[in-house]
Amino acid sequence: MLNESTFKKNLIKWFNENQREMPWRETSNPYYIWLSEVMLQQTQVKTVIDYYHKFISRFPTIEDLSQANEDEVLKYWEGLGYYSRARNFHTAVKEVASEYKGVVPSTPDQFGKLKGVGPYTQAAVLSIAFNKPLATVDGNVFRVWSRLNNDQRDIKLQSTRKAYEKELQPYVYHHSGTFNQAMMELGALVCTPKNPLCLFCPVQDNCSAFKEGTVLDLPVKTKNIKKKTIQQHVFLLRNAKGEYLIEQRQERLLNGMWQFPMFEAPNTLEQLENKLGMSLSIAEEIVFKLKHQFTHMTWDISVFSVIETVSLSKKMMEDYKLEWMNLNRRDEYTLPVSMDKIYKHING
Ligand code: ADE
Repeated sequence: MLNESTFKKNLIKWFNENQREMPWRETSNPYYIWLSEVMLQQTQVKTVIDYYHKFISRFPTIEDLSQANEDEVLKYWEGLGYYSRARNFHTAVKEVASEYKGVVPSTPDQFGKLKGVGPYTQAAVLSIAFNKPLATVDGNVFRVWSRLNNDQRDIKLQSTRKAYEKELQPYVYHHSGTFNQAMMELGALVCTPKNPLCLFCPVQDNCSAFKEGTVLDLPVKTKNIKKKTIQQHVFLLRNAKGEYLIEQRQERLLNGMWQFPMFEAPNTLEQLENKLGMSLSIAEEIVFKLKHQFTHMTWDISVFSVIETVSLSKKMMEDYKLEWMNLNRRDEYTLPVSMDKIYKHING
């Protein structure tokens, strides 16, 4: 354990003087704090602020969000990515409405059982909103704590997270929300991955990595196994009105979002023809190529233009969850980022 009296005092003093303004730091409403923590996972503060304001103005209370339909909730998340975060949050908020009369439960046990609430969200929300003594361990905290202790353990291992939570425990018996946010803020502003500002660090005296010259070697993280790349072919099909065929995804990934028909290579034109029960031809030139990164894989997308004007039966449209999208009515659909790029390409 670091010398608590100086380490924690210096860290919190620095935080009080240097923290960035964030709208969720101006509230004690646990629903808003929870929303902000969910949005902040995998997404930067400056991106989140705008989404946060729009979300709480449309769904100002637990009650409002619990009554909303999922499509609309996804619409407010559109562009943030990692959409299962939104779906899980929506489900959890509905649980709070029905099981807890709309009051966010403040015990680790009850809150931790809600859909999508893992150890990070549990600790962040309960410490910030209710001052519960739980330590947050996110990417920033891994970096800061490994450097302070010159700790070489692999942060990919679950055992390292557990050890960090335990080691940080003594610091969160009091002012846990402030301490946790100060650690994360230090990681974001000073103890950064590439060019850390050690000379301005409020806890430099406590930093073993600074003394040993190992700051840039930490944290230790075993390399990701190489991401899988999937070749995807997207087809642009138009009807006589010039509207584009889109389909609603039924897979786990990006479930419920809309896309131009897409198939995994090989034999993609054949897959499309089989699905629609007609023979089609495509323009020789590829319309557009793009890559989209997910956590575990990359989509390498090629977009093809179908030459024929297509007409489909109502039954087929319903069975396959297909619609004709007028390019001027794109706002009625929630598109994943990759499909939005294709949309923007064809809409000039
Ligand atoms: N990253 C995620 N949540 C944060 C918070 N509350 N303060 C600073 N950085 C964060």
